[in-house]
Amino acid sequence: MYLGIDLGTSGVKTLIIDDKQQIVASATADLKVSRPSAGWSEQDPADWIEATRSAVGKLKVTSPVSLAEVSAIGLSGQMHGATLIDADDGVLRPCMLWNDTRAHAEAAQLDADPKFRAISGNIVFPGFTAPKLLWVKNNEPDIFSKIAKVLLPKDYLRLWLTGEHISEMSDASGTSWLDVGNRRWSAELLAASSMDADQMPRLVEGSQAGGALRLEIAMEWGMRPGTVVAGGAGDNAATAMGMGTIADGSAFVSLGTSGVIFAANDVYRPEPESAVHAFCHALPDRWHQMGVILSATDSLNWFAALVGKSAASLTQELGETLREPQGLFLPYLSGERTPHNDAAIRGILTGVSLDTDTAAITASILQGVAFAFRDSLEALQATGTGIERLVASGGGSRSDYWLRTIATALNVPIDVPAAGDVGAAFGAARLAMLAAGRASLASCTPPPVDRSIEPVTLMRQAYEDAYQQYRETYPAIRSTIR
Ligand code: XUL
Repeated sequence: MYLGIDLGTSGVKTLIIDDKQQIVASATADLKVSRPSAGWSEQDPADWIEATRSAVGKLKVTSPVSLAEVSAIGLSGQMHGATLIDADDGVLRPCMLWNDTRAHAEAAQLDADPKFRAISGNIVFPGFTAPKLLWVKNNEPDIFSKIAKVLLPKDYLRLWLTGEHISEMSDASGTSWLDVGNRRWSAELLAASSMDADQMPRLVEGSQAGGALRLEIAMEWGMRPGTVVAGGAGDNAATAMGMGTIADGSAFVSLGTSGVIFAANDVYRPEPESAVHAFCHALPDRWHQMGVILSATDSLNWFAALVGKSAASLTQELGETLREPQGLFLPYLSGERTPHNDAAIRGILTGVSLDTDTAAITASILQGVAFAFRDSLEALQATGTGIERLVASGGGSRSDYWLRTIATALNVPIDVPAAGDVGAAFGAARLAMLAAGRASLASCTPPPVDRSIEPVTLMRQAYEDAYQQYRETYPAIRSTIR
């Protein structure tokens, strides 16, 4: 048995798989994000521990197998967050999350130094870890002076589970401190952001062992002390492990709080100018690219909260048949990464008239997210990465209407996995299995496909025209948003 733990933005998900990779139990616990100021997005690391305790507590009760049978644990987590730890492993301030854009000036400053793109292979985006540390240095110097280690969210959970400071390549790729091609911390990049190598955790590959379960937690959970904890992965690489997105050219679209088009590469293919992310995969000698949009289900959830309905009921109201393109929605509620790298831009809704109803706005929002994905697809294709089809993942992929909108906007068919949760927690459990040496990579296959959602041919031209208008909207109104 293997335990996967995914520390997401909106909750912790845990699941147990058996040796045949069947899910035998799963449980979740919710997390909240605090936004104390415009552009800020924080969580208290103590809440991650509490949520993990609560989810594993539920697993203990509901699982038909005892947790004592778990041979390894795998971790996945929201990326880029800066968890600042003092010399006694105490947390110095709330974690600044991946969609916290307060460090945009610091990000621009680091990004202007050519060695960051050259060594890390990526733009220094405001949500990445390095600029956040510079922000803390500039704004909270007392805290900055006490930092003994900087940990990514799931690696803080690992510290609690194992007592060790360890990270792995996929998550470390999103710090702006990793030499992504050579898979090691870059002393040069650390120095350029006033940090040093001692403040970094030790690095392992995602599929290798990265710590052992502490006696105290093993007792609490009824597990074996010393149970292997795998390196694990950032949530996108973990999802890729779950979906079997490993072979060069395979790709998925993830509709979570953020939206991601992820393509696996067997070589390192950086192309920072296009705002495509080029990161290490969770497996040795493999990399991946991503186009990342900051507000995917967040856009729909924002509107759902405004109108007092659930996101699911809003998408259900649309029925099955794809509508004509409706107005234009640019989903930049928290700024945008691919393709604009613009922390200050905000969402835009156009084409609203007296007969625009709730359903029309919902359709615009789904369409806007689809067009943002199209931007990412175009950026990925411009690097030479061909994407023939996508596999759907993430909570938003429960809406066939949304998937149909995306398939039509991208002109790419989308495969929907058969029932079963093959997301980040499942991928983390697979990494646990690999780290325990109980399975080979060949067993990390893509899930069976339940159905494929094809682009709606009759609507293709209309969506193509609307996408061209969408592309023109950002530069046309950019200067009006300050
Ligand atoms: C990836 C990114 C997001 C988070 C969400 O670069 O920022 O996908 O990992 O959890």
